[in-house]
Amino acid sequence: MVEVGEDGRTWLLSGPTSSYALRLTGRDELLHLYWGPRVTLRDAEALAAGPPPPARGFESPLDGREEYPVAGGPRFVRPALAVRDSTVHGTEWRYTGAAVGEDELQVHFRDPLHQLGISLTYRLRGDVVERSAVLVHEGGVRAPALDVLRMDSATWTLPVRDGWRLTQVHGRWGAESRLARSALGYGEQVIGSGRGHTGHQHLPWVALDAEEGAGEEHGEVYSCALAWSGSWRIAVHRLPDGAVQITGGVGHDDSGVTVLQPRTALVTPVFAGLYSGGGFGGASRAWHAYQRDHVIPGAETVRPVLYNSWEATRFDIAEEQQRTLAHRAADLGVELFVVDDAWFGGRVDDRTGLGDWTPNPDRFPHGLAPLAEEVHRLGMRFGIWVEPEMVNPDSDLYRAHPDWVQHQPGRARTEFRNQLVLDLAREDVRAHLYRQLHRLLDSAPIDYVKWDFNRSFTDAGRPAGPGAGEPSWAHVGALYDLIDRLRAAHPAVAFESCSGGGGRVDLGILSRTDQVWTSDNTDPLDRLAIQHGFSQLHPARVMAAWVTDSPNAQLNGRVSSPRFRFVSAMAGVLGIGGDLTRWSESERAEARDWVALYKEIRPTVQLGDLYRLRPPEGGLSAVQYVRGDDSVVLAWLQAQRYGEEPAPVRLRALDPAASYLCLDTGETHRGAVLLHRGLRTGLRCDLDAAVFRLRRV
Ligand code: DGJ
Repeated sequence: MVEVGEDGRTWLLSGPTSSYALRLTGRDELLHLYWGPRVTLRDAEALAAGPPPPARGFESPLDGREEYPVAGGPRFVRPALAVRDSTVHGTEWRYTGAAVGEDELQVHFRDPLHQLGISLTYRLRGDVVERSAVLVHEGGVRAPALDVLRMDSATWTLPVRDGWRLTQVHGRWGAESRLARSALGYGEQVIGSGRGHTGHQHLPWVALDAEEGAGEEHGEVYSCALAWSGSWRIAVHRLPDGAVQITGGVGHDDSGVTVLQPRTALVTPVFAGLYSGGGFGGASRAWHAYQRDHVIPGAETVRPVLYNSWEATRFDIAEEQQRTLAHRAADLGVELFVVDDAWFGGRVDDRTGLGDWTPNPDRFPHGLAPLAEEVHRLGMRFGIWVEPEMVNPDSDLYRAHPDWVQHQPGRARTEFRNQLVLDLAREDVRAHLYRQLHRLLDSAPIDYVKWDFNRSFTDAGRPAGPGAGEPSWAHVGALYDLIDRLRAAHPAVAFESCSGGGGRVDLGILSRTDQVWTSDNTDPLDRLAIQHGFSQLHPARVMAAWVTDSPNAQLNGRVSSPRFRFVSAMAGVLGIGGDLTRWSESERAEARDWVALYKEIRPTVQLGDLYRLRPPEGGLSAVQYVRGDDSVVLAWLQAQRYGEEPAPVRLRALDPAASYLCLDTGETHRGAVLLHRGLRTGLRCDLDAAVFRLRRV
């Protein structure tokens, strides 16, 4: 709901539990008024009537108070917008009007000197406020092009508190999304990626709580997430007076987003913000609901159990071998069989073939259709791996078009994993990719595409001309357009975003893919921490998790039981990625049971509300998913200590007056007992795990 104050200059946006207010001054400055628990329009107007800050010689009257600080004028904070022509740096805005919808507000301004218009958009999705900006160069054909040095999506302003803590997730390849929390110092803390993709180093998300401290289920948490899959930056700035501003957008530095030509526009991605009074858990549940309801396509349906061949067969693949795996997978109850790398071109290792998206004739002499049809006959869907934005120098595509890759004239082309990045800013490259992928999806009954991206940008950027500036701006726009067109032409095909594991996970890619590959680290213990961090922002419904072989071949050689591996992977979208030809009959029988159990709990896990009962910091950790009358508790014991049984786990979101039947033990528990004394897990061994299904009776 959006309400407008009497003089038409105060706006109040209210979700179910929170409000956000802004105010236009008589000098056309757009000031932040309020963000927090729900308030009335009268409250917001009373805030607007408050006295201005005292004038001081060296202090800006605007810093820390503006909705969208720009370069130019009396400001010293980081500008969200910096524009210049050959003589004038910065902008000066005149208010031109506002458009108010049911759940949306747009505030419009004009800079007559630069002939620019800007619209700031606020859209309510539950308690999440989606913010973005559009910059329009209105000038005629002879007007000068403008350098846009920086254009962030939004600046969020938090109330003044004695102190703030910053929570983020950090990592690297094979170790993504690890949660870190620390006191926020004065000045700026910046996270981001200058790599052309979201990166393994951070999810584009931050959460702040004040010094008195929020907990998992109590206290105030402000969090912001950027919907962008290229280079990005989120700067958290604690100002001298204790106020905090969080500015986020495309690009990692201010060296120039783009050159804005007359009569063109620049649209930022969404930088979404959420206030939650329910602690970090409450914030996560609100983010999850937002993504299921407004971001992820088709999120009301559950994702199938998949098998992926990567860890089993890597680059050494053949049709017959994949058929054998498909039969084994179907026998376990798998619903989607995905052939990973090395089915195409001359791809026999990571030096060759990327770019040539036709089946390798030695490996698939009759194309993919015979295998895909067999997989369908087995009752599964069929999926395929691609990495469309990349090319190996040893490929037909590169030999034909060496100029199609990102490069700097006269400079060496840097290879990572023996591959180069295609320049998606080029129309011919985009057209070629669409044709190839469209043809591939027509060539066989393909239901699923795992879209990988295995290196960062290094040589990108064209010093002049169209596409100049931040390279991922054009690249990501083209990537989104490509996926959108393929989805429109093949609406039954689902897409997975992968980038060497979790290198491209964000709200932007999630609005056009069905699930993401969380990490190449498939060790079930490391995964608990990675999943814990991932779950701060994203729901289990998109978090792919595979059961692979023991000892873990991909990363650390750890030995673990099928039980521990399955229960770890059952916290997300269950997949299997081991070499099934080497699983014994008893291992396969056990796997069959776990898959059947997962299918039962899947609606609760994928679509329910998540409560993180105990974090994965050694000892016992546990999560609970709640959907209607059903609860599922997954518990893991990392290491047994002193022969003692760990303390019972206190559950959440149950009716204290109701009884709950545990389908796994046959016991009936009182809600009050589960809430206050807790559920005994009975776990006693190292790397042990259990599943409890509770139903209200
Ligand atoms: C990286 C992915 O994360 C893996 O799952 C696998 O698809 C390989 N790429 C294939 O090259």
